[in-house]
Amino acid sequence: MPAAAVPGARGRGVFIAFEGGDGSGKSTQARLLVERLRAAGHDVLQTREPGGTEIGERLRALVLDPQYAPVDAVTEALLFAASRSAHVRQLVEPALAAGRIVVTDRYVDSSVAYQGAGRDLGTGTVARLNDWATNGLHPDLTVLLDVDTATAAARRTAREQSAGGAGPDRMESEPEAFHERIRRAFAERAAADPGRYLVLDAARPVGELAEAVLERVTALLEGRESSGAMAPDGTPSAGSRP
Ligand code: TYD
Repeated sequence: MPAAAVPGARGRGVFIAFEGGDGSGKSTQARLLVERLRAAGHDVLQTREPGGTEIGERLRALVLDPQYAPVDAVTEALLFAASRSAHVRQLVEPALAAGRIVVTDRYVDSSVAYQGAGRDLGTGTVARLNDWATNGLHPDLTVLLDVDTATAAARRTAREQSAGGAGPDRMESEPEAFHERIRRAFAERAAADPGRYLVLDAARPVGELAEAVLERVTALLEGRESSGAMAPDGTPSAGSRP
């Protein structure tokens, strides 16, 4: 059976982002959602940031490799924004235009939280930089996996040990206060725009979280189907720009 474009989307797909701190389990949840959507016959692009494109993967290596520490905060923010710009223009926008569902592991909120709050560049400044980088493209839904910093740190350590001691990347090596600022910034973004967020307690069992995500995404897709995805003036309403 051919993979189905989103019904009723009329050429505009649905854009879903997963966000959360290191060790929140969002990559697992993104993968589970993609598997379930594909099993239901949807055409899904699964992607991640930083990365997703060839240039993005190279920027990823540059910005995360502990070998390049210290990188100043502005340079770091610009590298993430550059990777995101390529990602949106080369991959996300074309997929949405083709009516596909795009699921990304991290997006703008990661920069606002890590560089804006974690590195203290200011959340407003980083949000504006990223609006420019993405041409103002916002997810239709952001799933935020909220986890307390102690649990997240324990999960990261377990993951590193099972991965054979690859060692933490530049962000993971930051102190607890850095991760605490990030957690707060994510929560503030979600609270400012509750209709576009699903905030989940990442300490809940994996299967239960996956159910909650699927339920919300199903409701989003059904809403699209019944309303059509076009604004009254004929412009696309989804993969929205504010
Ligand atoms: P990654 O190995 O993908 O970790 P995770 O599985 O937690 O997503 O590394 C991405 C790291 O880069 C993570 O520590 C968050 C950080 N990051 C930023 O600081 N700013 C950003 O804009 C993005 C996308 C990621």
